[in-house]
Amino acid sequence: MNDVTQYLVQAAIEAAETAYAPYSNFHVGAALLLDDGEVVTGSNFENASYGMTLCAETVAIAKANSDGKLLQIRAIAVAGGLKGKVGTADHPITPCGRCRQIIKEVADLTVTDIPVHCAHANGFETYTLSQLLPHGFGPASLK
Ligand code: THU
Repeated sequence: MNDVTQYLVQAAIEAAETAYAPYSNFHVGAALLLDDGEVVTGSNFENASYGMTLCAETVAIAKANSDGKLLQIRAIAVAGGLKGKVGTADHPITPCGRCRQIIKEVADLTVTDIPVHCAHANGFETYTLSQLLPHGFGPASLK
């Protein structure tokens, strides 16, 4: 197991601690690995109007972008679970459909099939964005 990836998955697990998820009680953390080794994290941010919820991956990517680092993203780790049990599921927690589309934007712009490391109780599974979102629509589709 690659040390950097292990570190990134752990960062996602820890990022879930700041989740604001009083409605689902499902806490999610995302960690982005930048090309210079920096890690940017995000957690899910729910709302009393449930559908307004922002997912952890989306928060992290928007955070990186607002710091001018969108094009530096090279890998993503995701971890989720009920409060206090993040990363303990027997199955990997994978990004929702909307987040896959958000990641697609990064994949196209960076011309990188971004690996997404999805945590579970025994470690993580890695899927590339094209595995998670085959035949997706992105900025390259507009050319
Ligand atoms: N959630 C994420 O943060 N990322 C995903 O990819 C899947 C779902 C959040 C949204 C909501 O706050 C909670 O998990 C339960 O769906």
